[in-house]
Order: sequence, then C-alpha cells, then structure tokens
Amino acid sequence: MNIVIIGHGGHSKVVSDIILATEGIQVLGYLDHKYKTKEVINNFICAPISEVREIKENNDDVRFVMAIGDNRVRKEIIETLDLSSDDFISLLHPTASISSSAKIGYGTVVMPNAVINADAVIGCHSIINSAAIVEHDCYLGDFVHLCPNSTLAGAVKVESGCMIGSGATIIPNKTIGEWTVVGAGATVIDHLPRNSKAVGTPARIIENHYIKTG
Ligand SMILES: CC(C)(COP(=O)(O)OP(=O)(O)OC[C@H]1O[C@@H](n2cnc3c(N)ncnc32)[C@H](O)[C@@H]1OP(=O)(O)O)[C@@H](O)C(=O)NCCC(=O)NCCS
Repeated sequence: MNIVIIGHGGHSKVVSDIILATEGIQVLGYLDHKYKTKEVINNFICAPISEVREIKENNDDVRFVMAIGDNRVRKEIIETLDLSSDDFISLLHPTASISSSAKIGYGTVVMPNAVINADAVIGCHSIINSAAIVEHDCYLGDFVHLCPNSTLAGAVKVESGCMIGSGATIIPNKTIGEWTVVGAGATVIDHLPRNSKAVGTPARIIENHYIKTG
C-alpha cells in the first residue's frame, strides 16, 4: 500500500519512520503548502496539498495520513480535503503496546513505545506521541495530541482538540474539556473546562476562553 503524508515538516519524519518500520506499506510522497508545483524529490512525489485528488486518482492503492502536530491546523486542513474516512490510514509503530480491546480511529498515529491499555477508545486524526501512556478505559476524542511521555491514568477523558504537553500526567477519572491545552510536565488533579490552558503541579488554569452559552 502507498502512503501519502500530508505535512512535510519535522513531525513527518517520525510518521515516515513508522511507515518504514511497518511491513507492506511505503511512502509514496508528501503534500505540503511549501510545494508550489508537483515534483519528484529523492524518488518521492512532493506536491501542494491541492493536488490531493489528482494523487488519489492516479495512483493505485493509496492512503493518506496527516503529519501536522498542531491540532487546529490539522483539523482545518482535513476539512478542505475532498477525502473520506476510508482514504486515511491509522499508523501504529511496531514497538507500541496496544491492547486488543482498545479502539483506534482512522487517521490516528501511534508513535514508538506508546502504551494503549485495555478498553481505551481513541478518536480520529489524533497523535499518541512517543512513550505516551493511555491507561485502561480512557476515552480520547478526535484531533487530540498526547505529547511525548505524557500519561493518562485510568478512565481519563480527553475531549476533541486537546493537547497534553510532554511529560504531563492526569490522574484517574478526570475530564479535560475540548481544545484545552495542558502544559509540559503538569500534574492535573481535577477536571479542566474546555478551551483552557493549565500548567504546573498541581495544574492551575492560566487562561480560560470558555464562554458559556444558553
Ligand atoms: C503550556 C504552554 C502551551 C504555554 O505556552 P504559552 O501560551 O506560550 O505560555 P507562555 O510561555 O506565555 O507562559 C505563560 C505562563 O505560564 C508559565 N508556563 C508555561 N508553560 C509552563 C509549563 N509547562 N509549566 C509551568 N509553567 C509554565 C510561564 O512561565 C508563564 O508564567 P508567568 O505568566 O508567571 O510568566 C507551553 O509552555 C507548553 O508547556 N507546551 C507544551 C509543549 C510540548 O510539550 N510540546 C511537545 C510537542 S511534540
């Protein structure tokens, strides 16, 4: 199977490595706004993101994966693409430990040494970065980024769009509201509302853009 990576910056290097480490799939090319025309570089097709349909129609057995770390940018770009859920592949690095009862949505990427334990549910187009831990019964929405070495204890709920910074820990049964950012190294010991930013140990909210309606 041929994989086209959307986004050709630093994060795409790690995504490429997962493909290299996985049998039966190979990188066909990269789409990125930095390319103005379609060209072949080091045997890879490199083209603007607007070429996505053309690439899909003119290549056999092709799937796409996003390699853009910023959750909002990743979501915005996907919304401009004329692709369906079947066009995306989930990538799971072979060193990741993933329970047979865990569920992982399309387009999600699981990096080296991540752990996803029993009955965890992970949405679509999320990033479970290197050595992140998702304990049993956790629930993650779409467009989440768990940064390297972050830990979700049992039954934590992380709603869509959240970024959990490197090395942050969330204690069991807490909910992080959608599009909230948790700083690197934070220890979250309580629920966090949506659209907030929290840092430190114990985590304190330093910004809150949540506007209650109705
Ligand atoms: C939380 C974070 C997003 C805040 O970024 P920001 O909005 O630019 O915030 P600022 O740098 O302006 O900092 C605001 C305040 O929070 C503090 N702060 C920021 N990040 C912090 C952290 N991780 N832990 C403790 N305090 C932190 C700053 O010292 C500053 O405090 P002050 O107002 O008393 O001076 C960022 O610092 C962070 O931790 N990002 C995680 C990055 C990461 O893990 N990336 C991995 C990519 S793979």
